[in-house]
Amino acid sequence: MGRLTGKVAFITGGARGQGRAHAVRLASEGADIVVSDVCGPVEHNMVGPSTLDDLAETARRVEEHDRRVIARQVDVRDLAALEALAADAMAQLGRIDIVVANAGILAWGHAWEITTEEWQSVLDVNLTGVFHTVKATVPHLIRQGQGGSIILISSSAGIKGQPFTLHYTAAKHGVVGICRGLANELGRYDIRVNSIHPAGVNTAMGDVPGLMALIAAEAETLGPVFMNTLPHTFMEPDDVSSAVLWLASDDGRRTTGAQIPVDLGTCNR
Ligand SMILES: NC(=O)c1ccc[n+]([C@@H]2O[C@H](COP(=O)([O-])OP(=O)(O)OC[C@H]3O[C@@H](n4cnc5c(N)ncnc54)[C@H](O)[C@@H]3O)[C@@H](O)[C@H]2O)c1
Repeated sequence: MGRLTGKVAFITGGARGQGRAHAVRLASEGADIVVSDVCGPVEHNMVGPSTLDDLAETARRVEEHDRRVIARQVDVRDLAALEALAADAMAQLGRIDIVVANAGILAWGHAWEITTEEWQSVLDVNLTGVFHTVKATVPHLIRQGQGGSIILISSSAGIKGQPFTLHYTAAKHGVVGICRGLANELGRYDIRVNSIHPAGVNTAMGDVPGLMALIAAEAETLGPVFMNTLPHTFMEPDDVSSAVLWLASDDGRRTTGAQIPVDLGTCNR
């Protein structure tokens, strides 16, 4: 028996990177998986696009654990598509217990040079996309009447004043607002809501020389904002999955409304 046997997890942005790692790790503990991703370019995302093949590879890795999987191309900006996916998950897998709102994009530049279009794109995916994900799934968890765990992937930029990414920093702080408000509303249903705050993770989003160049140019004054405490620059996606698994499982059953750093100590700087 795994720690999540009999559970179903609904994960966005799972074609690759951290979302894929969460899907595979939760499946390895017995959960069936509903995984979605936009699988293509998103306007103003400065990170390269994921593909349908990436999503199929996530599904294949879940199936290696003998778990059922629904994998679908869905944009978190499309509430109706997320609602349809949640309805199909209920019809085919019977339940939803765990929600991981992970999909995200990144852009960078000096704050005063960010266009209104770039601002809106980052807010649409990284903040409104999280709202859509919980709006599409929470009614099913409430009707089920057996509690649940909602895990929102924010960032160290959801706690610190990360420069050169004002839209991203604002959206990730906004995710904390969703987390804390929602945790209070859903507590009576024994549904927990927590946010995770990774720092640099070894994914496509972690490999951004353009942002690194901006940081390097102002390293003397702003470099310390990005400084870690532990002697590593990056983590692996599975390091974040360990926190996701803890929150998803009964081990995390007394924690709600919390901001969990998985950040090499940067938020303590
Ligand atoms: N990599 C890091 O250093 C880092 C640090 C802190 C937080 N994060 C956050 O972790 C999460 C996962 O990022 P990652 O590091 O795996 O990067 P990633 O770029 O590999 O993964 C993000 C995934 O989200 C998908 N996505 C983007 N827009 C979408 C949309 N509109 N609808 C559905 N899917 C969409 C992408 O296609 C991609 O597969 C993001 O929320 C990110 O902001 C990343």
